[in-house]
Amino acid sequence: MAIDYLERIPNNVDLAGNRTLQRALEHWQPRFLDWWREMGPTDFLASEPYLRTAISVDRAGWASFGHVKMPDYRWGIFLAEPEPDRRIGFGDEYGKPAWQQVPGELRSTLRRLIVTQGDTEPASVEQQRLLGHTAPSLYDLRNLFQVNVEEGRHLWAMVYLLHAYFGRDGREEAEALLERHSGDADRPRILSTFNEPIADWLSFFMFTFFTDRDGKFQLKSFAESGFDPLARTTRFMLTEEGHHMFVGDSGIARIIRRTVEVMQQVGQDPDRVRAAGAIDLPTIQRYLNFWFSSSLDLFGAESSSNVASYFASGVKGRPDETKFDDHSCRDGAMTIVQPDGKGGITSEEIPLRNAMNEIVRNAYTRECEIGVRRWNGFIAAAGFKAGLALPSSRFRRRQGVWANQPVDPAGNILPEAVWTKGMAEWLPSEADRLFVGSLMQRVTQPGKIAGWIAPPDRGVNELPLDYDYVRLN
Ligand SMILES: [Fe+2]
Ligand SMILES: [Fe+2]
Repeated sequence: MAIDYLERIPNNVDLAGNRTLQRALEHWQPRFLDWWREMGPTDFLASEPYLRTAISVDRAGWASFGHVKMPDYRWGIFLAEPEPDRRIGFGDEYGKPAWQQVPGELRSTLRRLIVTQGDTEPASVEQQRLLGHTAPSLYDLRNLFQVNVEEGRHLWAMVYLLHAYFGRDGREEAEALLERHSGDADRPRILSTFNEPIADWLSFFMFTFFTDRDGKFQLKSFAESGFDPLARTTRFMLTEEGHHMFVGDSGIARIIRRTVEVMQQVGQDPDRVRAAGAIDLPTIQRYLNFWFSSSLDLFGAESSSNVASYFASGVKGRPDETKFDDHSCRDGAMTIVQPDGKGGITSEEIPLRNAMNEIVRNAYTRECEIGVRRWNGFIAAAGFKAGLALPSSRFRRRQGVWANQPVDPAGNILPEAVWTKGMAEWLPSEADRLFVGSLMQRVTQPGKIAGWIAPPDRGVNELPLDYDYVRLN
């Protein structure tokens, strides 16, 4: 399905046929651009990265590539093609026609979920706004900007839903999405992970691996929604999300490949690895502990009556709902292990519908493990002990039954004093952040790359590595 690029706001939702909506969005557009100039990537407004832009929403060829100044990027509203006679695939409404309008009784629930998702999109652009100054190569700089403009488009996707289906409340929420800012003391972003600074590229790659992957799972849950416009919007967003996770996965892999190369020359001692200009594996593990635990919280509490009602009412399903046999989940149960308050653990059986967060979190964790196994493969292939591991899902949690518990990365409950001491070793220290920060020197010559990261396997869109992926005007 082609996208109409002659419109001020490119779209495939026939915006021209709905003058009121078109005017409302044209009113929001300059505010979005102001936000981009103030809160988007700093000092790169005149630069021209080689960007991918959506031109259709069918699988065959949705993307076109070219150098474009970011403020001129064609952000727009693109929904996946409608599925004829689509039915609700789970919950109490199973088999009934999907809703083309918001059911009155679900209005505030859907609005809150869309606002929470929408809030993460500009938040990540804000978190990453300084990274352009320290990019390890033009290739990486281009990938950063590609992620940034697509997160900007994801904001457009959610704002479209708010404007088109939620009337005046929706328009007010769309304004507020530009008024909250990541890390702002007075008006922070809604979810805490999106207020964490991303000050260096190791954090950026961890974020795109772990936190964007949470985004993928949230979007996959919404892609099942009985509210068809939300399902179609998020389905198209998922095509863009794939690139974000590629950036994270390959970025960490390239750091590790460089680290083990240096280890082959100077040995395993972290100090010597650092002195040779690479990031030692224990530091990588500490960053991993930080971002994985932070991202786990985004799935919410293990047991949630809210999430049970989202499932029952058809608002939010499980990723890949069709792969499950039971789409009602009315009778099932799940065992949740939790602290007993006396230094031990206990388990509780909860209704399956209340356990949806935990089911999705477990699926997410399994996918994260695939990445860690791959990275360990590089370490083992270089002849070293491959010991990178995801910390236990009980570690450093701020949400759910394990919130604020003195747990080590293996999942053991420790005496408070031992745990406090341990935390200093399990998470990036100030010295770690300073060291990683000291490596972040900008490289701007085509084909050249910083010393702490290996070059990528291939360029973008089959272009060579020394292509001018960003014209720094
Ligand atoms: Fe996104
Ligand atoms: Fe993303």
